Amino acid sequence: MEIIVQETAEQASMLAARLIAKTISDKPDAVLGLPTGSTPLPLYKELIRIHKEENLDFSSVTSFNLDEYLGLGPEHPQSYHHFMYENLFNHINIPAENINIPDGLTENVPSFCNGYEQKIKDKGGIDIQLLGIGSDGHIGFNEPSSSLTSRTRIKTLTPNTIKDNARFFENESAVPRHVITMGLGTVMESRECILLAFGEAKAEAVRQSVEGPLCAMVPASVLQMHNRSRFFIDAEAASKLEKVEYYNWVFSNKPAWQQFEK
Ligand code: PGA
Repeated sequence: MEIIVQETAEQASMLAARLIAKTISDKPDAVLGLPTGSTPLPLYKELIRIHKEENLDFSSVTSFNLDEYLGLGPEHPQSYHHFMYENLFNHINIPAENINIPDGLTENVPSFCNGYEQKIKDKGGIDIQLLGIGSDGHIGFNEPSSSLTSRTRIKTLTPNTIKDNARFFENESAVPRHVITMGLGTVMESRECILLAFGEAKAEAVRQSVEGPLCAMVPASVLQMHNRSRFFIDAEAASKLEKVEYYNWVFSNKPAWQQFEK
């Protein structure tokens, strides 16, 4: 695990965006796993800028989104389909047929989920999985108590997550209760994971994920078992980490060949 602390969310997002851009330059048909939420917005903005100003080419890239609300169609303004087109896909040259997002209107959830897993396999697996984190430690919508080996499936949101996400809806009761999410086992099969966390509200979840025990009650702690996982966090999200000085020491003492392009 590598914990990269930057003063601001913008700085952390710029670094993570560079890493993704490099992956795509090195492997033009890279497969990306993508999240929604407030957290990845500065990173998506930066990817759009790199596409427009530095010609980063998404024409052979494939994407798989982590999750979607059940019951919301792609046109619904709060659907993750809508979010992804508004905030990223409409502004880059990824072909529509390379975009995969769970279908919130599917009539057969288990069959859809099996097909989603199969499609990831058929594409050769996910090269980089980007992740946000919930204040309860969820990644994707794998709520606390999710099996650490879970696959894409239906989940019931916790009242805590419904409350956190109510800001995007008219009111709390408009937030769907159910979602389709990639599982923790699905995420763990990606070749590389990048988790972003910003702000004080994420500090406790970050502390438990990085320095607490591996535990189904803190789903992001499963990343302790991933051999290439990096957390890009701001100073507030790092504020409860006990060993933050060590993580900063590691980052400032990287050998030249390991340093990030800025
Ligand atoms: P946020 O959501 O980025 O809007 O904070 C993160 C999450 O719930 O995974």
